[in-house]
Amino acid sequence: MKIILASNNADKLREIREILSPMGIEVISQSEAGCRFEAEENGTTFTENARIKARAAMEATGRPCVADDSGLEVNAMGGGPGIYSSRFCGDRTYRETCGEILDLVDGSADRGARFKCAVVCCFPNGDEIDCEGVVEGIIGYGYEGEHGFGYDPIFVPEGHTRSMACLTDGEKNAISHRGRAFRRFAEELRKYMEKEDVKE
Ligand code: IMP
Repeated sequence: MKIILASNNADKLREIREILSPMGIEVISQSEAGCRFEAEENGTTFTENARIKARAAMEATGRPCVADDSGLEVNAMGGGPGIYSSRFCGDRTYRETCGEILDLVDGSADRGARFKCAVVCCFPNGDEIDCEGVVEGIIGYGYEGEHGFGYDPIFVPEGHTRSMACLTDGEKNAISHRGRAFRRFAEELRKYMEKEDVKE
């Protein structure tokens, strides 16, 4: 089974390929599928934004397309940056942006945070599969680790003592928001294919 991923983010593509390949699902990026646009993410939830990206890619390619939208919610920032996680960083480096979050959280009694990921797959016949994954944790006391990407160096997952960036890709995928959402998606996709008798 081949599926087109509506994303231009190389880090996400690498993680999603590692999650889905043991399940026999080959992931092709939208640029490999000849689709070079970027849909405007003007939704108000992770699921709405994932749907916007997946639907735009499905309409451009005429094939089933999957997209994810994800981000970090920090209690001390009222749940932000949330759907604005990428835009909150903007043109700064992630190290600078993580520094700002560490400062904000140091001034608060609540270090709670979570990564969330919504996955939406749109089919040309109008069908849709929606899944979500969450990993709870806290904002750590410093910037540490060299794996992963984005906000991983300041996020310490529940049950761990070091940041997500101290985990290998395989260890991260086993507990991450994206790993959880895409494993649910793989299961839903398998059921859908059995029901529809879809061959590709
Ligand atoms: P998206 O491409 O619009 O879904 O933006 C996701 C943004 O959320 C990324 O650019 C990162 O800033 C942040 N993010 C999402 N998932 C992760 C993760 O697994 N680790 C670190 N940061 C993440």
